[in-house]
Amino acid sequence: MKQKILITGGAGYIGSHTAVALVHAGFEPIILDNFCTSEKSAITGLSKIIGFTPIVIEGDCNDPQVIESVFTNHEIQGIIHFAAFKAVGESTKLPLKYYHNNIGSLVLLLQSMEKFGVKNLVFSSSCTVYGEPKILPATEDTPRQDAESPYGNTKKICEDILVDVTKSQKGNKIISLRYFNPIGAHPSSEIGELPIGVPANLVPFITQTAIGKRERLTIFGDDYDTLDGTCVRDYIHVMDLADAHVKALSYLAKQEDNFFDILNVGTGNGNTVLEVVKTFEKVSGQNLNYQIGPRRPGDVVKTWASTEKITRVLGWKPQFTLEDSLRDAWNWELKLAKR
Ligand code: WQD
Repeated sequence: MKQKILITGGAGYIGSHTAVALVHAGFEPIILDNFCTSEKSAITGLSKIIGFTPIVIEGDCNDPQVIESVFTNHEIQGIIHFAAFKAVGESTKLPLKYYHNNIGSLVLLLQSMEKFGVKNLVFSSSCTVYGEPKILPATEDTPRQDAESPYGNTKKICEDILVDVTKSQKGNKIISLRYFNPIGAHPSSEIGELPIGVPANLVPFITQTAIGKRERLTIFGDDYDTLDGTCVRDYIHVMDLADAHVKALSYLAKQEDNFFDILNVGTGNGNTVLEVVKTFEKVSGQNLNYQIGPRRPGDVVKTWASTEKITRVLGWKPQFTLEDSLRDAWNWELKLAKR
């Protein structure tokens, strides 16, 4: 019997790619999504890749009745919890929306895990908890810093909740994955990122500019203390990130009672914004219209991951290069243009 894994936010960008990776690893995904920031087309796309339509429950994972019925109707053996709001700017204007949704849904899931005897949870955290790391690469022991936004704070608080619950609640086995910058799309172009409105993130802004949806990209500052003056990030292919979730889940299944750990998911390489732009131009054959603008308030200057721990613990290594990621992001944008 295939293990049933609840994927909250399973129609979202990372969730949909993880659903595909789970099926290919022999698990059965049960997708829970309220489609407030995702589209039904993601389900159509992922169904094409896996060759069948998985179970999809339309509902809010912050709703006790919804969660109760999911656990009652399906014999869930593990959870990957993606569902959360993630717009940094919005979170500064509507902090309670973020605290209520992101923290409330985690608490509810943990309560249900206890009630229904579900032990394994992979939680979606972020490198945002490191802020501007003093020493690079950022390891899992790099001190966390005061969050720059209520969104970032929800990730810190959720991690703290997980630590407390692992200590107190018998049998919980939990991994918190701290993502760096996920980019790209499934190589088939059946699923990918679907930003709402004007993208805040670099790569969807680049692809939308190249396709003509945006006039030009503004690079936020070129006078930082980096190789070419633009900020440095660790851009990871979304399928590599999806694979890390599958490996984390399999690892949890092998652990004894009460286990908590944190793992970075990045490539271990930092790239500047200009390097990303140049690499995009190379793989897409497009000339990108861009200008240099002022710095974006709150931007971290340089961050990239140490991958030593995740490689040692899970045997996970990224398989895709920056070129692959940007090519897949571009192919996805081309596919979207045909819809
Ligand atoms: C990348 C680089 C920008 C847009 C995000 C989330 C954060 C965390 C990590 C999830 C930066 C530059 C961007 C543009 C630009 N994720 N840029 N022009 O800043 O690392 O943060 O990922 O938890 O919460 O917000 O990613 O894609 O916004 O920016 O020059 O139009 O691209 O300044 O250097 P970031 P990003």
